[in-house]
Amino acid sequence: MRKWEDIPASEITDLALFLRRREFLRSAAAGAAGLLASACGSADPAVAAAPARGEPITGVRPGPAAFGTDEPPNRFADAASYNNFYEFGTDKSDPAKYAHSLRTKPWSVAIEGEVAKPGVVPLETLLAPHPLEERVYRLRCVEAWSMVVPWIGFPLGDLLARFEPTSKAKYVAFETLHDPEQMPGQRRRVLDWPYREALRMDEAMHPLTILAVGMYGHVLPNQNGAPLRLVVPWKYGFKSIKSIVRIRLRETQPPTSWNASAPREYGFLSNVNPEVDHPRWSQKKERRLGEFRRRPTLPFNGYAEHVAGLYAGIDLRKHF
Ligand code: MTE
Repeated sequence: MRKWEDIPASEITDLALFLRRREFLRSAAAGAAGLLASACGSADPAVAAAPARGEPITGVRPGPAAFGTDEPPNRFADAASYNNFYEFGTDKSDPAKYAHSLRTKPWSVAIEGEVAKPGVVPLETLLAPHPLEERVYRLRCVEAWSMVVPWIGFPLGDLLARFEPTSKAKYVAFETLHDPEQMPGQRRRVLDWPYREALRMDEAMHPLTILAVGMYGHVLPNQNGAPLRLVVPWKYGFKSIKSIVRIRLRETQPPTSWNASAPREYGFLSNVNPEVDHPRWSQKKERRLGEFRRRPTLPFNGYAEHVAGLYAGIDLRKHF
C-alpha cells in the first residue's frame, strides 16, 4: 500500500516530464498535420483518450470584475486530464481514466449542524435559486503546479445564508461521497475516507469562495469534482474538495483529511504562502500546466488584496 508520505517527493519531476511530453506531442502532431495520430493512434493515454466535455451550460453571467484575471486559461484538455482525485487513484492520469464510474445523478447534499433549516436537498433544488457566474480563477496546488480555469459556479455564502446559520456556526465542514463501489480508490486506505475539508465561517462567506458545477462552459467532468465542488482560490488546491455530499456548520474546528494525515505538512488554513516551505520542498515558485518556466508564487495566490484582511494579527508562519 502506498502511503501519502511516499508519494509526492517526485511530483515536481513528474510534472516536468508530463509537460515536456505534452509539448513534444503537440508540436509533433502539428508538424504531421494529425496524420500520424489518426493513422497510428497514440500510446499516450492522455492523448489517446481526450477528456470529454459535459453538457453545455447556458445563461452564465460574468463574475465580479474585481476577481478576474487577464491570464489566459489553461487548455481544457490539461485541466481535465492532470488531476488530483485520490478516490480514483494517486496518479495524475488516474481520475480522467477511472472517474466515469461515479454516478452524479441523482445527487443530494445534506446541509446540517448549526443551521436553523437543515435538510437533505436534491442538487437541482439546491442550485435553483443561484444564478451561475463564470469565474476565471488561478488554482495553486500544494505540489507546486498551478492552472487558470474558467469555473462556473456561485458564491458558497449565498447558499449557506439560505439555511440560516446559527450564532454558534464558526466553521463549515465538507465531505465527499464515500462509496468504494463508485470510487475504487477508497478501497485503499491512502486517506481516512471520506475526504474532508473545512473553512472558517468568514472564509466560507467570503465572496471569492464558490461552489462550482461547471468549467469551460460545460458541466464539470467527473475527474474535476462533478457534480458540485468547492473552489477557494487563495488556498492550496487540496482545500477545494470535490463531489460534495455533506456540508455541516460547526462551532469547533473540524478535522480535515490532509491535516489529519500529515499535520506537519498540511495546516488547517493552508493559505498559499511562498514564505512557508513545505517540509519537503519550497513553495516559492510554481509551474503553470503547459509551461516550462517557473513563476514566482504570490502570497494568497495573488488574491491578497481581497483576503489578507481575514488574517490580520495571525502569525501565518505558525498557522500555515
Ligand atoms: N477532493 C477530493 N474529494 N479528493 C481529492 O483527492 N484533491 C485535491 C482537490 N480536491 C482532492 C479533492 C487537490 S490536492 C487538488 S490540487 C484539487 O482537488 C485538484 O483539482 P483539479 O483536479 O480540478 O485540478
